[in-house]
Amino acid sequence: MTQNTYIKEIVKYSLENDQENLLAALNQFIEYSRKSKRINFALQLQSILKEGLKHQQTKGLAKVGSQKFLLKEEERIIEELVIDKLTSDYTLENLISNNNVRDELQYFIKEHHSIHILKDFYLPASNKILFYGPSGCGKTLASYVVAGELEKLMYVINLGAVVSSKLGETSKNISTIFKKAATEDSIIFLDEFDSLGKLRDYNQDHGEMKRVVNTILQLFDYLPQETIVIAATNQVNMIDEALLRRFDFKLKLELPNKTQIRELIKLTLKNTPFIIDDKKRLTQIVGLLEGQSYYFAQKTLINAIKRTLFSLENKKDVNLNIDLGIWEEIIKASN
Ligand SMILES: Nc1ncnc2c1ncn2[C@@H]1O[C@H](COP(=O)(O)OP(=O)(O)O)[C@@H](O)[C@H]1O
Ligand SMILES: [Mg+2]
Repeated sequence: MTQNTYIKEIVKYSLENDQENLLAALNQFIEYSRKSKRINFALQLQSILKEGLKHQQTKGLAKVGSQKFLLKEEERIIEELVIDKLTSDYTLENLISNNNVRDELQYFIKEHHSIHILKDFYLPASNKILFYGPSGCGKTLASYVVAGELEKLMYVINLGAVVSSKLGETSKNISTIFKKAATEDSIIFLDEFDSLGKLRDYNQDHGEMKRVVNTILQLFDYLPQETIVIAATNQVNMIDEALLRRFDFKLKLELPNKTQIRELIKLTLKNTPFIIDDKKRLTQIVGLLEGQSYYFAQKTLINAIKRTLFSLENKKDVNLNIDLGIWEEIIKASN
């Protein structure tokens, strides 16, 4: 069958209100998309399908007043606190890191690719990972890499918003999101994980903070194997010890050294027409960038490319050699 045949069937059954055949056709189409390597599309369809089925199931219950209220409440929490629900195309190639981080990440990904083997031997899969280190060094990127490599949906949660939205409701909000993600075997990405530490300041007796930490510890303990939690922070010392201990992997993403800055430049220029031919000057620039983040190095490079481009009069047959003088100026001006 071709894609068009599936679509025609789906339209036909939905217009005829033929629920049973519609579901069968949709499931076949998802399987077909998966086999034809359109994994993200298949995942998105599957998520729409699940969502739709859940709506139907709860419609019946909605007559009972309180139930209806609960449902709305759950939807509201998810809408407010989940920044994004996404699939990713990033792979390990996109992330520059030291060998240790690379090996550990590869290992984590492998565990999930081979989860059936672990299950056969009743071995638990690692499913909690913490990325820490200075800003702009790839914590968010690394989580996208995990989602991309494992072809899983990822819920991006702004923990800052969860914590500050309504004090006293933090535990409930976090549980709601975890439960939702767990039903879909997805990844929960808790950015700004150190925000939990702020609860300490809000509340003199630390009561709320203790409650929230306990909730998270419990949620961690009962997390299904296929659900993954990724947390990121640039203030690892703000995080409760007990919580830190529960992570299977704690990976430090550091500022790039000179070799890594060069790798980043190569990666950024890959598949573009832009080149750098003054090797001596490049060495100076790499020296200037030492001590800065990957983000800073990449951002200034891209700005230099744009300005080089604008400075060229005839853009048609240009030598797309990046003007390193411009780049140097930008770096110095942003420092
Ligand atoms: N280790 C890295 N390897 C490659 N690119 C990186 C790396 N770290 C940062 N970048 C670039 O900088 C951008 C911002 O990094 P990000 O992952 O948001 O950093 P963080 O979350 O640690 O603050 C990334 O999208 C990527 O373009
Ligand atoms: Mg980030």
